Amino acid sequence: MSDSDNRETGPDSPNSPEGADRGWETGGSVFDRSKTGSGAAATGGGAGSGEQALLQAGTSRGTGRAKKTAPVPAFLGPYATILAREEHPDREEVDRRSYRRGVRLVTFWFALAGVAAVAFIVLNFAGDVHKEYYTPVLGICIGVAMAGLGFGLVVWNKRLMPDEEAVQERHPLHSSPDDVVAFEEDFARGYQETGVGRHKVLRRTLLAAAGLLGLAPLAMIFNFGSIPHGELQVTRWTRGARLATRDGVALRLGDLPIGGIATVYPAIPDQNGKFVALTDNQTAADSTVMLIRLRPGEDQPVPGRETWSVEGHVAYSKICTHAGCPVGLYERTTQHLLCPCHQSTFLVTQHCLPIFGPAARPLPQLPIAVDADGYFIAQSDFIEPVGPSWWSRT
Ligand code: FES
Repeated sequence: MSDSDNRETGPDSPNSPEGADRGWETGGSVFDRSKTGSGAAATGGGAGSGEQALLQAGTSRGTGRAKKTAPVPAFLGPYATILAREEHPDREEVDRRSYRRGVRLVTFWFALAGVAAVAFIVLNFAGDVHKEYYTPVLGICIGVAMAGLGFGLVVWNKRLMPDEEAVQERHPLHSSPDDVVAFEEDFARGYQETGVGRHKVLRRTLLAAAGLLGLAPLAMIFNFGSIPHGELQVTRWTRGARLATRDGVALRLGDLPIGGIATVYPAIPDQNGKFVALTDNQTAADSTVMLIRLRPGEDQPVPGRETWSVEGHVAYSKICTHAGCPVGLYERTTQHLLCPCHQSTFLVTQHCLPIFGPAARPLPQLPIAVDADGYFIAQSDFIEPVGPSWWSRT
């Protein structure tokens, strides 16, 4: 008589639908059952006892169709029972050519992942951090390495592992009838105690307040304001505006030492001809500029912008081109400007090119000159949009 014939089929049997539902109550988790030998195995000589037999004898079990069983290593201890199950036909035996193709495919992906990982490590030390392609190439390398590893594992699973169907016992998810009744009683009692049913005024004011609150998000949606157009393309800098500190002091040639930096705002003449610095929040949001004095000959301007600086003084927008944070950490020895939000790093001597981090374009440069009185002035507004790249790609 086969094992299947020996199985109990009554309502209490773990092999019956009802018994399967209750298996979790009588036998605990599958791990508990595997440790104690209880559960399905202990309650009826079902699958558990069959597995025990497999463990000991390593023989076939079944009802007609011969299936191979796998010897389970002893070091797996209590988990051996879980693993001692019917083994499905080895894919290599089913289709040897397909299996070998799978092995080659997995090998290819793993090899690709290894090569990309090595390239990532080498480039980190040997790459030129000042080149525009440095960060993207690093990203591509690590991306290919991770993707290769992932694809290899997926192909391994799909093409080389046995094709197995597993059924897991689950306890019923619905509440017991007693729990349902208890909940209904609690709910009814709570409803009575709130008095909502007795006091119409409470019920109506509650519904009115909740309904009106539900409309609040709609009001916000309709109050977004007009769609910005050209105003995002311009700042308060104009031809002749002086570069002044937040205190309103206009800077002159010679005020900054070599390696010095100052945050400046546009100062424009009022009705009396007196220069007034614009430092309100709206101006500061897009017109804040860093004036930096480099060593002589250090600046490497973009062709065509040779006249945008004055004796080593350069001016760049302080608004990060990644997400708009103020870029303010200047390292004089390396000429790096760092944005503290996501560590974008800009190289000042190379027109504030981003050399690290998520920023995708250089900080916009403000063309400057010196007027007859020796004050720094803007030659014009920025010729490109300042701020985050998502609305101002160049
Ligand atoms: S805002 Fe500057 S790096 Fe993100």
